[in-house]
Amino acid sequence: MIAVLDFGSQYTHLITRRIRELGVSAQIFPSDVDSKTLAANGVVGIILSGGPSSVYEKNSPQIKKEILQMGLPVLGICYGHQLIAYSLDGAVKPGKFREYGEEVVTIKNPGKILDNLEKNEKVWFSHGDSVSKLPNGFKVLAITKTTDIAAFCNVEKNIFGVQFHPEVVHTVHGMTILKNFLKICQAKKDWNIAGLANHLIKRFQNEIGEDNVIIGVSGGVDSTVAATILNKAIPNNLYCVFIDTGLLRKNEVEEVKETFRKLNFKHFQTIKAANKFLNSLKAVTDPEEKRKIFAKTYFQVFSGVAKDLKKKAQIKYLAQGTIYPDRVESGKTSSVSALIKSHHNLSVPKTLGLQIIEPLGDFYKDEVREIGESLGLSKEILWRHPFPGPGLAIRILGEVTDKRIKILQEADAIFIEELKKAGQYQKIWQAFTALFPIKAVGVMGDSRTYDYIIALRAVTSRDAMTADWAILPPELLKKISARIVNEVKGVNRVLYDISQKPPSTIEYE
Ligand code: XMP
Repeated sequence: MIAVLDFGSQYTHLITRRIRELGVSAQIFPSDVDSKTLAANGVVGIILSGGPSSVYEKNSPQIKKEILQMGLPVLGICYGHQLIAYSLDGAVKPGKFREYGEEVVTIKNPGKILDNLEKNEKVWFSHGDSVSKLPNGFKVLAITKTTDIAAFCNVEKNIFGVQFHPEVVHTVHGMTILKNFLKICQAKKDWNIAGLANHLIKRFQNEIGEDNVIIGVSGGVDSTVAATILNKAIPNNLYCVFIDTGLLRKNEVEEVKETFRKLNFKHFQTIKAANKFLNSLKAVTDPEEKRKIFAKTYFQVFSGVAKDLKKKAQIKYLAQGTIYPDRVESGKTSSVSALIKSHHNLSVPKTLGLQIIEPLGDFYKDEVREIGESLGLSKEILWRHPFPGPGLAIRILGEVTDKRIKILQEADAIFIEELKKAGQYQKIWQAFTALFPIKAVGVMGDSRTYDYIIALRAVTSRDAMTADWAILPPELLKKISARIVNEVKGVNRVLYDISQKPPSTIEYE
């Protein structure tokens, strides 16, 4: 297998996933793992991940020197690239220019790791520091306009470094680089994902046995797939709870109820709690505070339901639809990763006294969809755009009010309806509207208006770890904008968001 040493990057897990996509086993190890452990696991190659620290900082994660002396091929990515230089006798310092997002590297010498690439390649950067001096015996393989050492190698020792991220889809030929590395490692292709859904069903049947499980569902892909796995594993012992937070899309409550009715869940209940959420969010404007309050309210409501259920049935487990990227962004994957946003579905209070099950905790959205497909879920459910736990609360920038929710629901419904009509919905990873808490001047009829601004956000992505704004036809944007301004009272301006992730995120808060 390939060992991926984790220095806290948002993309560490993505590296292992890409390696598995290439048919080879991969596993994440802590950054300070020793050579004995790697050898005992049959490791044939080592990848050092990126990370948020600077290698020269006190307490920054380092590798044991013996790792580079194992004689195994090593590929350093971003922080890993810098760490190789720093751990040998090279040097790293803050770069004159920071590079985030798409860049072009020019390849000077492929050095095996960059074989089969064009001379100029589009890659994805996310770094502030740069390697300023190569270790002895190393050669430069690629440069950019601002980085002199964008990739390096020591061909005799099979040690390579790339400053950019081959694992993200925006590095157009990133998979070729990883394939080259696997070839250098002479790794065997013996990983396959088939049968995963059945494996999960059996696993939870065994683990749960006769005990009861409660799960909160939202109608989104993740919780529906997680609930369906459990429904196949323990149909009589699964209790599904759907909380109407008042922060869902227009008509969503009825649609979700209908979906679960069709899926034949034995125990399913809807809890109306819109007022409670609205009251708890009153006058709150800070995004993290909003997320925390939402989570607190959600679990107050949820705990109430769980306690009532406990009177009837002994509930032992709480299942969640958390997927891998949720854990990444919440900084829950390793001790060295950074918090980006707190995801509400991760902050479960211990007082509930339930053990957590996360059937999808290791998977990405597209893998979840594949699992869902093999469970027989409809395309309509599986291809719904992702919707965040805190819902419209984090799409209304600033204070959440009843009026703002209504405006946003109407605008969002128009946007989605038009995308579907134009055949664009399924080409896009996620589309939604956001409401800015400021007003702009406009003119309607002959009168001055002073109304809210709506932003349209539509992004393409493969796994939400990186995202690009979607290029929509101008005529379609024109129609959407006109419809929103004409049909949604309280809005007089529509903007189209052209920000990539990183450095932006998909959601606004
Ligand atoms: P960001 O905004 O971090 O979003 O680029 C990445 C993906 O995660 C979704 N998201 C959430 N999903 N609970 C969730 O279940 C949350 O609290 C949450 N916040 C963001 C977001 O919609 C996007 O698909």
